[in-house]
Amino acid sequence: MKTILVVGGAGYIGSQVNKMLLEAGYNTLILDNLSTGNRKNITGGLFIEGDMADTSLMEKIFREHPCDAVMHFAALIDVGESVLNPAKYYTNNVVNTLNLLQTMLRHSVKKFIFSSSAAVYGIPEKSDQAIKEEQACNPINPYGETKLIVEKILKDFQKAYGLEYCALRYFNAAGGDPQGMIKNHSAKQHNLIPVLLRSLRNPGSSLTINGNDYSTRDGTCIRDYIHIEDLGTAHIAALERLQKGQPSTCYNLGNGNGFSILEVIQAAEKVTGLKVKSTVGPRREGDPAILIADSQKARKALDWTPQYPHIETIIEHAWKALQ
Ligand SMILES: NC(=O)c1ccc[n+]([C@@H]2O[C@H](COP(=O)([O-])OP(=O)(O)OC[C@H]3O[C@@H](n4cnc5c(N)ncnc54)[C@H](O)[C@@H]3O)[C@@H](O)[C@H]2O)c1
Repeated sequence: MKTILVVGGAGYIGSQVNKMLLEAGYNTLILDNLSTGNRKNITGGLFIEGDMADTSLMEKIFREHPCDAVMHFAALIDVGESVLNPAKYYTNNVVNTLNLLQTMLRHSVKKFIFSSSAAVYGIPEKSDQAIKEEQACNPINPYGETKLIVEKILKDFQKAYGLEYCALRYFNAAGGDPQGMIKNHSAKQHNLIPVLLRSLRNPGSSLTINGNDYSTRDGTCIRDYIHIEDLGTAHIAALERLQKGQPSTCYNLGNGNGFSILEVIQAAEKVTGLKVKSTVGPRREGDPAILIADSQKARKALDWTPQYPHIETIIEHAWKALQ
């Protein structure tokens, strides 16, 4: 039975993938410093509370717990904070990842699945077309830069040290555990759906729509929401692909359907039966009108099809996780 080290496995996406790895018959070890993760989200596997920055702990983990591959979810993910405090982001997302990779190599662990992001692309070249992996990467904030730098490190480590990797560029991760077992997600999540659903639980609060004058069907920004269970299926397929000796690469992971902010609000009202209070504010700097993934490469190579493409199902599962 293969053992996978899940770094950041107490977080929103990592905890879902940890659960799915266990269901698929893998053993897991979970390393998390619980800065945004929650111990209650770890449904199984051996949990080690600690930080990737702790080089002696990392050494001890690899010495005492042989593993076959690493899935790396641990990162700071608040784009706005990354602009205000880039040092914190470069340290955790790049320096600590480098520490993880070097420890892996010292222990001859050479299979790595990396949580990258659509933030590596920056502003799409053609705003009306889905983004393909070949598009130029020009991140517009330090968060996106950290993801691109790690992807560059991975390419160089593959050539020099034979580290085989798969970088998965998620679009907007959304939804919740379809079985409702994992519920304790961080209240710091800044994506539209958790912010919107939290506003519904707090009757005094209202949602700000950042701009309604974009050239989209209703004037609000359109984004690609991908269910975390679909991300999990892609992770396991990517791992199996590496185990079969297929070459290192990157994939976009998106639903392929874009939903506008107003469409997400309407769907949330339908699912919850509650009325969303919203106001329209100014556009946010650097927000493109449309961001949609072309995930054909992942669909073909990983034989992967998202099982939860409907926005109402995504919201229903996210709402269940909040109850
Ligand atoms: N949520 C999204 O929409 C989205 C989109 C694209 C990419 N990603 C990437 O997916 C990954 C997971 O994101 P998430 O939404 O689950 O975030 P999250 O904050 O819920 O999960 C990150 C986990 O890593 C842990 N962690 C952070 N730094 C650590 C460190 N130094 N040592 C040990 N543990 C540490 C946190 O405690 C947390 O449990 C991240 O790498 C993120 O950049 C997320």
